[in-house]
Amino acid sequence: MGNNLLKGKRGIIFGALNEQSIAWKVAERAHEEGATFVLTNAPIAMRMGEINNLAEKTGSKVIPADATSLEDLEKLISESMEILGGKIDFILHSIGMSVNVRKGRHYTDENYDFTMKGLDVSALSFHKVMQTSKKLNAMNEWGSIVALSYIAAQRVFPDYNDMADNKSYLESVARSFGYHYGVSDKVRVNTISQSPTMTTAGSGVKGFNEFINFSEKMSPLGNADAGACADYCIVMFSDLTRYVTMQNLFHDGGFSNTGVTQEVIEKFSS
Ligand SMILES: NC(=O)c1ccc[n+]([C@@H]2O[C@H](COP(=O)([O-])OP(=O)(O)OC[C@H]3O[C@@H](n4cnc5c(N)ncnc54)[C@H](O)[C@@H]3O)[C@@H](O)[C@H]2O)c1
Repeated sequence: MGNNLLKGKRGIIFGALNEQSIAWKVAERAHEEGATFVLTNAPIAMRMGEINNLAEKTGSKVIPADATSLEDLEKLISESMEILGGKIDFILHSIGMSVNVRKGRHYTDENYDFTMKGLDVSALSFHKVMQTSKKLNAMNEWGSIVALSYIAAQRVFPDYNDMADNKSYLESVARSFGYHYGVSDKVRVNTISQSPTMTTAGSGVKGFNEFINFSEKMSPLGNADAGACADYCIVMFSDLTRYVTMQNLFHDGGFSNTGVTQEVIEKFSS
């Protein structure tokens, strides 16, 4: 049951691939909270067809768009305004991909074409989405834009590879674009730094199962799951957080401020 937190709001949700996707959960919650929105994903992801089930369930239209293509983004954003009947109140950027990770290239042996592709998809696309929406004057005042990040932007998690650099860039774009978008249109821009979560993108990282268990033990509240992340996104899209902008917001059960936990210490007792 929703609380009408997003009643009357219009949005665009990037990145719902399957039921595990964080964006999928956000779409379900946004629907419950009274929002209308367009779902989008890369044309290649559409082939799996699962997004159509989500669209049906939430009464949404699907518009394919490669988030690295300015042409696709222009089409997506203008058509969304037509379909939804006005300017946009919220955008979720839930997109990440590293070719180096996929192809098993070590961080110290990157293929730089792969690196550039991953950077474009995972980070620069966030700038592209906002630059396009700004040029099209597509956002309502007090609108909210959120991208999903990970703590490897601040600290080393070796197997996260070049995604760590991509997330640092993503968080920097949130600050810089957030400044300009705030001044010009009162639009807020934030990143949510989420716990490791069992999804297609997450499980692509080497040693993910062990890592998710470690993170669970290192978080006083345990790992936040995709549903809880969706709840946080909804609050960030709502009018209850109108003065939060240019922030990287940790949603991680306390992991980011924990040096060690008793449970982890006990694993080392001899
Ligand atoms: N799963 C985790 O452990 C975790 C933790 C913190 C942050 N995140 C971030 O959350 C976000 C969502 O990932 P997820 O875990 O839900 O996995 P996911 O695999 O379900 O979502 C990633 C999405 O990115 C989309 N995508 C890839 N290339 C694209 C392109 N060129 N244009 C448009 N879309 C494209 C994919 O189709 C997919 O829908 C990502 O930014 C990810 O880095 C995930």
